[in-house]
Amino acid sequence: MKQPTLKTMGQQSGRRSWAEPWKIKMVEPLRMISRAERETALIEAGHNMFLLKSEDVYIDLLTDSGTSAMSDRQWAGMMLGDEAYAGSRNFYNLEAAVRAYYGYKYVVPTHQGRGAEHLLSQAAIKRGQHVPGNMYFTTTRLHQELAGGIFVDVIIDEAHDSQSLYPFKGNVDFDKLEALVEREGAENIAYVSLAGTVNMAGGQPVSMANARALREWSDRHGIKVYLDATRMVENAFFIQEREEGYADKPIAAILKEFCGYTDGAWMSAKKDNLVNIGGWLAVNDEALFDELRNQVVVFEGLHTYGGLAGRDMEAIAIGIAESVQDDHVRSRIGQVRYLGELLTGWGIPIVLPVGGHGVFLDARRFYPHLRQDQFPAQTLAAELYLDSGVRSMERGIASAGRDPKTGDHYYPQLELTRLTIPRRVYTQAHMDVVAESVLTVYQARERTRGLKMVYEPKYLRFFQARFERL
Ligand code: F0G
Repeated sequence: MKQPTLKTMGQQSGRRSWAEPWKIKMVEPLRMISRAERETALIEAGHNMFLLKSEDVYIDLLTDSGTSAMSDRQWAGMMLGDEAYAGSRNFYNLEAAVRAYYGYKYVVPTHQGRGAEHLLSQAAIKRGQHVPGNMYFTTTRLHQELAGGIFVDVIIDEAHDSQSLYPFKGNVDFDKLEALVEREGAENIAYVSLAGTVNMAGGQPVSMANARALREWSDRHGIKVYLDATRMVENAFFIQEREEGYADKPIAAILKEFCGYTDGAWMSAKKDNLVNIGGWLAVNDEALFDELRNQVVVFEGLHTYGGLAGRDMEAIAIGIAESVQDDHVRSRIGQVRYLGELLTGWGIPIVLPVGGHGVFLDARRFYPHLRQDQFPAQTLAAELYLDSGVRSMERGIASAGRDPKTGDHYYPQLELTRLTIPRRVYTQAHMDVVAESVLTVYQARERTRGLKMVYEPKYLRFFQARFERL
């Protein structure tokens, strides 16, 4: 097996490997079913990875959401759950952690990220207003649209090019933003929807300089900036690694500075914050907080639990503090990069540079003979599962959905299959097995046929759509 060189991980000379800053205390057995059984399971699931049973999966790289391993400290915290309906002590611990590490004033817990997206979209978007963002995310855009907003992509062009090596492909393009304000007027912009390590672009970061400039721009136009902080810790790592002046700053300090350029944030705590369930919303504006606190009791639960058990809030509070430790982030991204470098070493097309939370296979270049409406990324996910029981996720035309106005598919430029790495769960040997399976599927690429969609749900279709082989 070829060892990747992790020059970017601070190696000086010779071979000095990094390793995880933890050891394993408890294990969960894995099982691999036979190829014939996988064939049956795949057909029963309509070639949709979301419809597979988890026990039919060997290595599960569907998502990094809620799939991380909690630490012994977090599990100990679970025993300290204060399950009072109102005023649980764990809420105050969560509030203190968000204030300390993200720096926002007011905190509302929610059951997960989309609960927070729902509340913020309803409170901050007036019907017909535009919501510029650095690339769409499925649930984020849907909540903005359900609140009457019109999403406008203002990410830099490099983000849509899987081969561009630009170090901050998540950046906002100010020409696009300025053109939108000129066309629609600042009063018709609800807010700028800014995301750290942009998921649909392959986990690509936003630079500190871009966030700072966005703050200045927004102040000039009287427009708010809200941050999707879901993978903002990972974004902070890339700033530390790539941006002038940040090499010696701890991740925690970078995170706090970045958040300081925004007016508030929503969070899927299931990612960076290292828990299996949870989310939160945090803002600095008291009037908006009042509105959110009022809304949360309608949709989630009282404002001191927001759909979570006290023990869950405790696990988030502890997870936040663990998540910003430099050695944790370094090994987390180091593992993702290890997989990426194995694949690029074998000439397999992936999104470059390797992002924060996963390796994104470039299905367009993998299957150039398939049209986009033959679902190349979905096809690739199905082939990988068949080959080895590895589960990945489509992030292409199926995920993009349809334009609510015209009813046509959105045809995203990026047609990707995401190998998403849960935090603190799999070993380097698992990464080797995954890489070898991708290679096998790659070698059979010319013989591979695409898929057709035979069932399509109305909202977020990728979760439940069914496909058949062409
Ligand atoms: N924002 C981003 C950037 C996300 O990646 C997600 C979820 C959400 C918001 C919504 O949060 O799932 O807690 O309701 N992403 C998962 C994924 C589903 O697999 O990428 P949620």
